[in-house]
Amino acid sequence: MFRKIAISAVSALSLMTGVAFAAEGGGHIEDVPFSFEGPFGTYDAHQLQRGLQVYTEVCAACHGLKFVPIRALSDEDGVQLPADQVRAYAKGFTVTDKDTGEDRDGLPTDHFPANNDAGAPDLSLMAKARAGFHGPYGLGFNQLTKGMGGPEYIVSILHGYTGEEKEEAGSTFYANHTFPGGWIKMPPPLADGQVEYADGAPNDIKHMAEDVSAFLMWAAEPKLNARKDVGFKAVLFLIVLSSLLYLTNKRLWSGIKGKKAH
Ligand code: HEC
Repeated sequence: MFRKIAISAVSALSLMTGVAFAAEGGGHIEDVPFSFEGPFGTYDAHQLQRGLQVYTEVCAACHGLKFVPIRALSDEDGVQLPADQVRAYAKGFTVTDKDTGEDRDGLPTDHFPANNDAGAPDLSLMAKARAGFHGPYGLGFNQLTKGMGGPEYIVSILHGYTGEEKEEAGSTFYANHTFPGGWIKMPPPLADGQVEYADGAPNDIKHMAEDVSAFLMWAAEPKLNARKDVGFKAVLFLIVLSSLLYLTNKRLWSGIKGKKAH
């Protein structure tokens, strides 16, 4: 009984304060106030463009994005690259044509390539496949205030390296205080100042990690802005409809309800 009360008190506290209670099973995750969080949050196209750059220059060496069509880079709701830049970007890849079997330059209608490193997972859906916040006590209440935390999980992995490494069964593992189990096979991919941003935005590990995680969130959920827009309109419509129904109901019954009982 007492334990139950204590648990609900802790959940209520975490709901009110948004304090992170350690996620069970996983490691350390920090909260990042991304622009796309909350009911009205939308993607920041500049951040997505920087994230695309980090992905292209760093992560793509190992990780694929095989479910993401390159043409989606010009979407209004997302990265907003002009069409000629999307064509130029696609040209940077060499693909084997399915029909002719010959190698040719990539086209916007192609997808991003698949993995280069057999051990690295495809990142197309990674931001939605992981949850950063589980607590308190695995009840997931923190997700109400902070979102699922997939992008936060990726940010935390990218700068969660402690610098330690070990050899085991012929592979090198790197100590990481976010990755479950504490040891990850991915070598620390980012270093301060590694990617030069054209817009002069800060390019320390933390900022690059946030940018690339936002980009991966877009890759996993490209229609987020449209979904929220439709949701908002639906709620507005329901409010108007409820008021009309209420007034109609009142009017229909007015003759009967207004009469005094004899
Ligand atoms: C040198 C190759 C390499 C590079 C470069 C690289 N990764 Fe990885 N990554 C890996 C490997 C290998 C794994 C699998 C790790 C494991 O399972 O222990 C991995 C795993 C991951 C995971 C999954 C963790 C999980 O929960 O399963 C994420 C997310 C990730 N990488 C993101 C990135 C991002 C973002 C970048 C670019 C900033 C990047 N990686 C660059 C090799 C790489």
